[in-house]
Amino acid sequence: MVPAAKDKTLILGIETSCDETAAAVVADGREMLSNIIASQIEDHKKFGGVVPEIASRKHLETANDVVERALTEAGIGFADLSAIAVTNGPGLVGALLVGVNIAKTLAYALQKPLVAVNHVMSHVAANYLVHPVQFPAVCLVASGGHTSLLYLLSRSETQLLGTTRDDAAGEAFDKVARVLELGYPGGPAIDKIAVDGNPDAFKFPRAFSGQDQNFEFSFSGLKSAVINTLHNLEQRGEVIPKADIAASFQAAVVDILVEKTRLAAESKAAKTVLLAGGVAANRQLRLSLQENLTRDGIVLYYPPPELCTDNAAMVACAGYDLYKRNEFAGLDLNALSI
Ligand code: KG4
Ligand code: ZN
Repeated sequence: MVPAAKDKTLILGIETSCDETAAAVVADGREMLSNIIASQIEDHKKFGGVVPEIASRKHLETANDVVERALTEAGIGFADLSAIAVTNGPGLVGALLVGVNIAKTLAYALQKPLVAVNHVMSHVAANYLVHPVQFPAVCLVASGGHTSLLYLLSRSETQLLGTTRDDAAGEAFDKVARVLELGYPGGPAIDKIAVDGNPDAFKFPRAFSGQDQNFEFSFSGLKSAVINTLHNLEQRGEVIPKADIAASFQAAVVDILVEKTRLAAESKAAKTVLLAGGVAANRQLRLSLQENLTRDGIVLYYPPPELCTDNAAMVACAGYDLYKRNEFAGLDLNALSI
């Protein structure tokens, strides 16, 4: 074992909820000793989105190697681990099952505690790896599968303020990018092309805007509005102004995410606002939220891009809090799709 890791709580995190096979070792819930991510993006690209069956098979092929690399890079062996933490939902159930079964097998063979981590809560925890978060805080988790606003009283006391009624923010990015033929994943592609577009070129709808104490989101109407605009332009034989559409769509998503997050922060007197999930990598979202919160004297934190998208360091970090509270899972642990 590396001398620095001696006497520390060492958690192995395993993440296979979607299209990243990831394993990481985190010491004392904060210090990342390794963070291995094997992305499947290239395998799903040609289908324009994640194919669940392919995701499960790829996790099976890759996971053992990823776990071994995480331990080797951390300079530790299996025997040095304090516990095994694994994402057990929400996510693609076949994909989750791969990670859950590896974690259960390791916990049984090594006689180590098993910890079950909620995927949304692990995204929140990515911030604890890199920032000295002050509570109370409000966290916006926006990813391909979730859009949730959370009120955090401490690392372990959380209340859900609101969530999406239909599509997640990242899902909307991916679908709009698909109709604009920008490739998969759509978020980074729209983020990039939007820089050259006019965000006021099209006025797309902003659901639930201007409603106090409403922390719900809805993105399916926005997605349909973009698709309808595109079809109208095509039918009239006009050149598709992709950058303008991307910028106007992104502005609508960012406006609503910023408005709701700011409202939540104000109503809960939050000291800190956290961003988490893949969409937290969006540059316009970060900029706009920063501008708005600075005006209100609230600190904004977000993880670096590699900790915004799916990774296992955040799973180990969230798992550490559960481990400290003796909240262990049994070997009957199952994967949960929602
Ligand atoms: O957290 P994540 O890796 O996986 C889920 O838990 O879903 O998030 C992936 C999502 C995808 O929808 C992707 O398009 C989006 O995050 N995303 C972005 C950006 N980078 C990733 N969305 C907007 N702007 C970005 N820069
Ligand atoms: Zn995620």
